[in-house]
Amino acid sequence: MKVAIPRERREGETRVAASIDTVKKLTALGLDVVVEKGAGAGASIPDAAYKDAGATIAKTAEDALKGADVILKVRAPLVEEVPLMKSGAVLVAIMNPYREAAVLVACAAQGVDSFAMELMPRITRAQTMDILSSQANLAGYKAVIDAAATFTRAMPMMMTAAGTIAPAKVFVMGAGVAGLQAIATARRLGSVVSATDVRPAAKEQVESLGASFVMVESEETKAAETSGGYAREMSEDYKRKQAELISETIRKQDIVICTALIPGRPAPLLVSEAHVKSMKPGSVIVDLAVEQGGNCALSEPGKVVDVGGVTIIGHLNMPGRIAVDASNLYARNLFNFLSTLIDKETKALKIDWADELVTATNLTRGGAIVHPQFQPAATPATADTSAGTGAGSGEGEGR
Ligand code: NAI
Repeated sequence: MKVAIPRERREGETRVAASIDTVKKLTALGLDVVVEKGAGAGASIPDAAYKDAGATIAKTAEDALKGADVILKVRAPLVEEVPLMKSGAVLVAIMNPYREAAVLVACAAQGVDSFAMELMPRITRAQTMDILSSQANLAGYKAVIDAAATFTRAMPMMMTAAGTIAPAKVFVMGAGVAGLQAIATARRLGSVVSATDVRPAAKEQVESLGASFVMVESEETKAAETSGGYAREMSEDYKRKQAELISETIRKQDIVICTALIPGRPAPLLVSEAHVKSMKPGSVIVDLAVEQGGNCALSEPGKVVDVGGVTIIGHLNMPGRIAVDASNLYARNLFNFLSTLIDKETKALKIDWADELVTATNLTRGGAIVHPQFQPAATPATADTSAGTGAGSGEGEGR
């Protein structure tokens, strides 16, 4: 059985869907792995290293995809790549189905059975396949590193003969996977960290990392967390109170890391223009939510902007900025999922279409769009899944 790893063709994508480790594991399963030339370049994996691990190198996407039974990718293919795939092939990627409806249609037309890794249910059995967690973790880390690199002061307190340097004050908004890693990273760098969330459960996690927790205390927060552990959109009254709390807090901060997301909705707007203008020159905001509309009113997707001396970083694809580790973790997530789809005896695909990991992630099958949320007639959701960013949130809560 042939497994293809084509080169990623979407702009700015540095990650790759197979690591040396997973190529070895796939070949050990008895599969023929074909990697397109240069596929690992953005993640510092030379073709020769893939070859040494047991893969064959294909010169072109056509050669890599021709006759492939399984295609592993980071991002959804471009519509024009789909006809290169054979009918009946299994495609596994971050498919971004809310925004990439045309790719879904193309996959269905081509008879490609596609699976969206970002729709993986967050159940114990699937923890090793949870790309939202693996990528968000790295995004939270990298956001703090980027902020520290831009910040023109030191992060830790330093006592020197020439005087004492005060530690940087870091405020993390949203204490999910990315936020908690941002807190841990900022603490390791020696800064004084505080964080906020709408889910009261976050308090204990934040405090266990040595940060202080600030949030609007209200009856409403008791129901702020869905059964899946995600946040709900809050009422206008809550938002007003939260804006007041942020006004008091943010002007004292040096670095703000925004990670707040609401599944299936645009990211909550938490940092207004007035908030930004209340911050000291030299302060830094990193908006990890920028692809979902942003937590900061002034952040711009893919840009670093300066507002009165405050730098607002809106990098897209934050995990792609730490491509080696992001690829390694993503590839391992993919391998763990793929190994559930393969019969170890026959070394062929054997998909249990009733398995909840399959029903949750399968978008197209046998020439049709089969996922109930993405039927052509269904009302489109207001927000998309992340196109591969670490802090990207999923779709509705029902997964
Ligand atoms: P996410 O990426 O959807 O959101 C990030 C954070 O933003 C969340 O903590 C959310 O509560 C917060 N947020 C949303 N609106 C906000 C607002 N208006 N103000 C402040 N904060 C706001 O969430 P993520 O990181 O994917 O994690 C969601 C939950 O899932 C967490 O409880 C996490 O512990 C849990 N989880 C469970 C896993 C499992 O396998 N069971 C794996 C990974 C995460």
